[in-house]
Amino acid sequence: MEFECRDLCKVYSVQGRPVSTLEDVSFTVMRQEFVGIVGPSGCGKTTLLKIIAGLVKPSSGRITFGETDTGGQPHNAMVFQEHALLPWLTVLDNVAFGLEMQGMKTDERHERAASFIEQIGLADFADSYPYQLSGGMCQRAAIARAFVADPYMLLMDEPFSSLDAQTKLVLQEELLRIWGEHKKTVIYVTHDIEEAVLLSDRVLVMTGRPGSIRREIPVALPRPRTLLANESREVKEIKWRIWKMLESEVRQSLELKR
Ligand SMILES: Nc1ncnc2c1ncn2[C@@H]1O[C@H](COP(=O)(O)OP(=O)(O)OP(=O)(O)O)[C@@H](O)[C@H]1O
Ligand SMILES: [Mg+2]
Repeated sequence: MEFECRDLCKVYSVQGRPVSTLEDVSFTVMRQEFVGIVGPSGCGKTTLLKIIAGLVKPSSGRITFGETDTGGQPHNAMVFQEHALLPWLTVLDNVAFGLEMQGMKTDERHERAASFIEQIGLADFADSYPYQLSGGMCQRAAIARAFVADPYMLLMDEPFSSLDAQTKLVLQEELLRIWGEHKKTVIYVTHDIEEAVLLSDRVLVMTGRPGSIRREIPVALPRPRTLLANESREVKEIKWRIWKMLESEVRQSLELKR
């Protein structure tokens, strides 16, 4: 087992009043597993990732990394929806940034970063600045940066949601490929049910306000996967099952109650 959270709760204080955001969230993630999380807007997905990343403190509950609770917080790389790169650094320096934090020497970190930049197809843009890149290229660089630092877990919060549909398809396939090569443990939050099913070994369906994990859906598709998997009957069935679990809450949030 790579990671476990038990009975995680988070209560924010909003203008002095307690607002419960997560309630009794429990799940485990196995080593090298790719776990997707889907759920309606506001159910606490980003809050959950931030807690796992150590950026937000839970109000109660327990998080364990590895077999025993050592109390330590390992390095978990987080990839956000946008604004993922530091605008004043080149692509190479952005990707190498995490390695600098780990104390790696300049030559070594540039060499390692360059290899990941090449793997993700940005070799010609290593010396460009983020403003010179498209949104898709920025997210590619963010992915390279997350993988290069060899994190304990990769926490991805809707990394492709701001991209156009075709760029998203290309990056999904690239992520499948780079993940297949490095087999990091990933927790991947998305609104896109099809994306969650395509990428994940297991999809956690989160609902409610405060949010909790309502179901865990295994995705027993063979790997390596490509976008062709989206056309399979299995993916279509799982997508439909997940949508049926979310539909009423999504409708309620749009105040279209029937
Ligand atoms: N720092 C904060 N202080 C107070 N309330 C917060 C804070 N961060 C988030 N919240 C509230 O917690 C709830 C869950 O927010 P969160 O961003 O985790 O949801 P989400 O599932 O990621 O939503 P989305 O799908 O829209 O990204 C929301 O109601 C939000 O307003
Ligand atoms: Mg969010």
